[in-house]
Amino acid sequence: MDRAADISLLPENYVANFAKARGVTDSELEALLLALQNQSGAEIAQKLEISQAAVRKRLGESYRKFGIRGSGNKKLYNLRQQLWQEYEAFQSSQRQTQEDWGEAVDVEDFSGRQEEIEELEGWILGNNTQRCRLVAVLGIGGIGKTVLAAKIANRVKGDFEFLIWRSLRNAPKLGEILTQILRFLPGETDSDLLDNDNNKILRLIEILRNHRCLLILDNAESILRSGEGQTHGWAGEYELGYEDYGYFFKKVAEAAHNSSLLLTSREKPKEVAALEGKNLPVKVLQMPGVKLEEAREILAAKGFSCSDTHLAELVKRYSGNPLALKIVATTVYELFGNDIGQFLASIQQNAVYGHIRILLDQQFQRLSELEKTVMYLLAIQRKYISLAELQAKLGESISVMQILEAVESLLRRSLIEKDKNNSRFQQQSVVMEYVMTLINQQGIEDIQGEEKLDFFAKFPLKQGRSLEYIRQNQFRLMLEPVKSAETL
Ligand SMILES: Nc1ncnc2c1ncn2[C@@H]1O[C@H](COP(=O)(O)OP(=O)(O)OP(=O)(O)O)[C@@H](O)[C@H]1O
Ligand SMILES: [Mg+2]
Repeated sequence: MDRAADISLLPENYVANFAKARGVTDSELEALLLALQNQSGAEIAQKLEISQAAVRKRLGESYRKFGIRGSGNKKLYNLRQQLWQEYEAFQSSQRQTQEDWGEAVDVEDFSGRQEEIEELEGWILGNNTQRCRLVAVLGIGGIGKTVLAAKIANRVKGDFEFLIWRSLRNAPKLGEILTQILRFLPGETDSDLLDNDNNKILRLIEILRNHRCLLILDNAESILRSGEGQTHGWAGEYELGYEDYGYFFKKVAEAAHNSSLLLTSREKPKEVAALEGKNLPVKVLQMPGVKLEEAREILAAKGFSCSDTHLAELVKRYSGNPLALKIVATTVYELFGNDIGQFLASIQQNAVYGHIRILLDQQFQRLSELEKTVMYLLAIQRKYISLAELQAKLGESISVMQILEAVESLLRRSLIEKDKNNSRFQQQSVVMEYVMTLINQQGIEDIQGEEKLDFFAKFPLKQGRSLEYIRQNQFRLMLEPVKSAETL
């Protein structure tokens, strides 16, 4: 039998709700439902104790409200077809990926990276044997891991029921992240279970098995131990208190499910290194610098162009690091009257000149007081901030227009970036670390110097509503020696 003819397969109440939404009255609906059950006009009239003419009138009205044309039985057939079609459309709209982008970045200006995109898509969407449960995108600060992950997530999300993006930048405990993920994903998760991280992992794996989910954890290096100043390499080891992330990554890679966890990190977490070699569905993409053409596009988006020779030299000098290239564009414009030749000549004279840290130093010196203040504020907040929040923190003596100008100038300089909805701002990680270094230096001066800087009074570390881990991380970053941007 033609499936369209069998309305009984549609969920109970679906036809009634659908008809009511079209303005079909209760009495018309009574007649319509009987007609859909293949009852004749005479049978309907008898059941409803009305005349056959009244049945025809009610059905005629219902067809009209559904916009059904045709004659006799054809109308009923067309109505069934329409009910099915609309039901399927409704179902597929319900099936749309549910997304929680957390603090994801805007990818409007993204360009190039075709090879990387194809490779990652193959790992995430590929057939059963190719598909990976754990994918890590690795590379130095500013190379483009976060934007690539956001781009990929946007491209593949249609294949997933759920997408959740979280940044580990402020080093949340695993339990915290798992609770957030479980709260977003379907199914009842009772609070007893949320007391225990191991249970949370088991519950999450169960959900990953039943629903195809894409989890993205950005900035995974934040939970790894810095190897700086150590004689033995710490690369890939976890910060104290974060070791359970390793166990979590291992479980996600080993358990059978169709979901994927995408990590971005400056360093390769230990488990990823171990699992990669075990023929498990785990893959690592080591991000190379951008190619000449890609660099050209990135610079063009900043309104900058130069000859092939100069471009090749720039890309070589900055190892194809897109963040460095974007900052160079402003530096050349502001300090070298847009003369790239002069800029490159000055790099050659000074070996360290080509370093991203130097670029940041130069840019920072040129900022207005308000721009600097905004930069300090964003570094201390360590999260996206809206214009309204900025204004609340800066006080009423500064107008919204002034703040807007400062923000736009910082965006032009590539020192800050917009979120996915273009409504909030935050610093690039490399830039944030640089500003934290400055704050740290000022903090030390504050303690040792004669003049009392009211810096910390102006920007209290403990923001009213900031989470405890942000506060702790602020202290960790400020009071312990800060990883200098120079070593990135
Ligand atoms: N393919 C690209 N197209 C356009 N812009 C890019 C591209 N790749 C990177 N960028 C720009 O370079 C900057 C750095 O990129 P991103 O934030 O993704 O780096 P990252 O590798 O995540 O750095 P970190 O380790 O500090 O988090 C951003 O401003 C980003 O917009
Ligand atoms: Mg990043």
